[in-house]
Amino acid sequence: MEEKNLIISANWKMNKTPKEAENLIEELKSKVTKVKNEIIIFAPFIDMHVATKLTKDTNLKIGAQNCHFENFGAYTGEISPNMLKEIGIKYVLLGHSERRLYCNETDEIINKKIKTALKEGLKVILCVGESLQDKNFNVVEEKISVQIKKALYMVEEKYLEKIIIAYEPVWAIGSGVYASNEEITSIFRIIKKILLNMFSTSAIQKIKILYGGSINAQNIKNFLKIKELDGILVGGESLKTEEFLKIIKSVSN
Ligand code: PGA
Repeated sequence: MEEKNLIISANWKMNKTPKEAENLIEELKSKVTKVKNEIIIFAPFIDMHVATKLTKDTNLKIGAQNCHFENFGAYTGEISPNMLKEIGIKYVLLGHSERRLYCNETDEIINKKIKTALKEGLKVILCVGESLQDKNFNVVEEKISVQIKKALYMVEEKYLEKIIIAYEPVWAIGSGVYASNEEITSIFRIIKKILLNMFSTSAIQKIKILYGGSINAQNIKNFLKIKELDGILVGGESLKTEEFLKIIKSVSN
């Protein structure tokens, strides 16, 4: 049977000062040396310097939670893809529902960000997912379809291997409520169908799909039963060393 090394990613959101980040990474890195899975930590910008330094030559990778769609210019307070690249960042999370909600990020802006990030050689984790209202109105497929079609509009096929999609239903984020395996499987199939309408079969085979939303050390084993799962995105529980290590252990076993 083919062995799949699932991607383990952690979204710290606006948590951990540089000192706290240093402590957490020090604790983690000695305990994951034998783990073969890719572990990506999406850390706040201010933590990146210390985080990239500490994770050099380890299997922990540091990613950014956002970037701008231009590489330089009069955009006060923003960070560009080429700035990230210069300090050794290889991944960027784009389209997270909290950025869509609190920072008014539209699908059009996300599309621009994706194109610039890819051109700079970054790998993009694109977050998509329906709200509770979308779910109640039975428009989940439509919502995800629009998000993907717009986010990947005019993205060249050659870049698809650098794209990972994270399915994160908004109602499952930080709520303790999570999607069932049936729901996740059905959305993964919908995502593949949407991608097939946009790109060639061979190109989309390289795109990996993750699930995120209230993953914890108890429920992780359940998600691992999903055949189509390529990895996970963990929020709150990735801030707690012991819990995150338990999750890593379950996934990597
Ligand atoms: P959560 O967050 O695990 O705390 O639900 C997931 C995310 O927002 O990426």
